Amino acid sequence: MATKYVVEATDVEKRYGGVVALKGVDVRIPEGSIYGLIGPNGAGKSTLFDVLCGITKPSTGSVKVLDMDVAALPAHEVARRGVGRTFQRTAMFKDATVYENLLYASYGRMRHNVIHRLLRLPAWREDMVDFAAKADEVLTICGLSDLRHQQASFLAYGIQRRLAVAIMLMNDPKVLFLDEPVAGMNDSETAEFIQLLHTIAKGRTIVIVEHDMAAIGALCDEVMVMVDGRPIVIDVPARALKHPDVVAAYLGSDDDDEQ
Ligand SMILES: Nc1ncnc2c1ncn2[C@@H]1O[C@H](COP(=O)(O)OP(=O)(O)O)[C@@H](O)[C@H]1O
Ligand SMILES: [Mg+2]
Repeated sequence: MATKYVVEATDVEKRYGGVVALKGVDVRIPEGSIYGLIGPNGAGKSTLFDVLCGITKPSTGSVKVLDMDVAALPAHEVARRGVGRTFQRTAMFKDATVYENLLYASYGRMRHNVIHRLLRLPAWREDMVDFAAKADEVLTICGLSDLRHQQASFLAYGIQRRLAVAIMLMNDPKVLFLDEPVAGMNDSETAEFIQLLHTIAKGRTIVIVEHDMAAIGALCDEVMVMVDGRPIVIDVPARALKHPDVVAAYLGSDDDDEQ
């Protein structure tokens, strides 16, 4: 069977005034893969990530995710049609509990209206039954079952990141975009998170920008190494990270200071 691509970007260029952040980038991300975007500081990873998930419009070129023109659609519509994304600054309601956060994330897909809810009509009850079942499933997958009544702001950082994934999973995304998900985590949080991503990767496609090369090696089927606004190597991590051009690009940058 021919490979199906969940993300297809062709000849993408992005200019900020005189700065050319992306220079004629082509990306094809196969359905079901975990795909990494890596490269030294300033290479264009964040710009490409934002362009691929529709936050930023490319200056020229086309981007299709799940066959939709993500740049032309409003963010909630992109999410409703199966694209999930998490950001470094986690989007959640800090004063709400874990369970409430999952509920708020689910309202967009529910059928009941406020009258149904106030009168506790069947439309509301059915939505709540469906929600409870889905929430239980997601809490179990994310290892959050025992924490469902905890306020989000009191959770450890690594657990907040798992909650961000849980929030995303409530909308059954087919493709997930993750921006440096393990940044700031300790070793055991990172290991648990990698395990979680492998679990949720089944039946989904994951696109990840990450500085932690060990995490990239443990997670990704394929990586694109970017340097100076364009891909220089696309390969499995083991080969890509050893490629002489990649080694040279990292040695020539000051990224080592960050680790
Ligand atoms: N909003 C912006 N305005 C101006 N220049 C930007 C903007 N965003 C990124 N750039 C520039 O584009 C290039 C790529 O940046 P970025 O995508 O953030 O790289 P990376 O994430 O790989 O570190 C850099 O030269 C950066 O300074
Ligand atoms: Mg960046």
